Amino acid sequence: MVRGDGMARPVLIAPSILSADFARLGEEVRAIDAAGGDWIHVDVMDGHFVPNITMGPNVVKAIRPHTAKPLDVHLMIAPADPYLAAFAEAGADWITVHVELGPDVAKSLKTIRDLGKKAGVTLKPGTPPSSLSRYLDLVDLVLVMSVEPGFGGQKFLPSAIAKIAAIKAMVRDRDIVIEVDGGITAGNANAVVRAGASVLVAGSSVFRGGAAKYASNIAAIRDAAEF
Ligand code: DX5
Ligand code: ZN
Repeated sequence: MVRGDGMARPVLIAPSILSADFARLGEEVRAIDAAGGDWIHVDVMDGHFVPNITMGPNVVKAIRPHTAKPLDVHLMIAPADPYLAAFAEAGADWITVHVELGPDVAKSLKTIRDLGKKAGVTLKPGTPPSSLSRYLDLVDLVLVMSVEPGFGGQKFLPSAIAKIAAIKAMVRDRDIVIEVDGGITAGNANAVVRAGASVLVAGSSVFRGGAAKYASNIAAIRDAAEF
């Protein structure tokens, strides 16, 4: 996979365990690790910031021994600050907060870095890229939501492609990873990577068909994404 400019651009696939069987979560994490998932994406929802409730620090702690790969924790909770240390101690490697969260996103990002973790900021489909500009020196990752946060299995919003490109232009030469999350399939993976994403979250398209399919599902997204 070589880009037109001759630079290799590895694409990482981050299966979202929101689509896993929660009754067998450790086994599911081992299965997606063995199937080639690069990061494990953990969707944390509170029933307040988003209309769904999922898992908390105890679940991160419980899955931590099942993989050596990075745990990529996407916080959809308000407030987030009181829980950042708990997620860090539970074994999160990347912790991402929503820019819509307030009241002090910069403080949250600094706290994540002070905890020794990689800090991410994310934005909902309706939130403009300009909302990120003041945080770009405080983050290691920008997560572009390509569905409304709250549920897996939604349809990819094509407006995310131009948004990724706009954010890529804002990021310039900063060492910031662009990740995309929501409705990612082998059918849209190439477009989001061409726009500038290098980490692709995928829930339903990875877990579809059961464990026997995880490796081929991940490979299909990776093969489509790389160019
Ligand atoms: C949505 C979550 C996503 C979701 C992705 O709020 O942030 O990570 O699980 O699932 P799919 O790939 O099914 O859209
Ligand atoms: Zn997510």
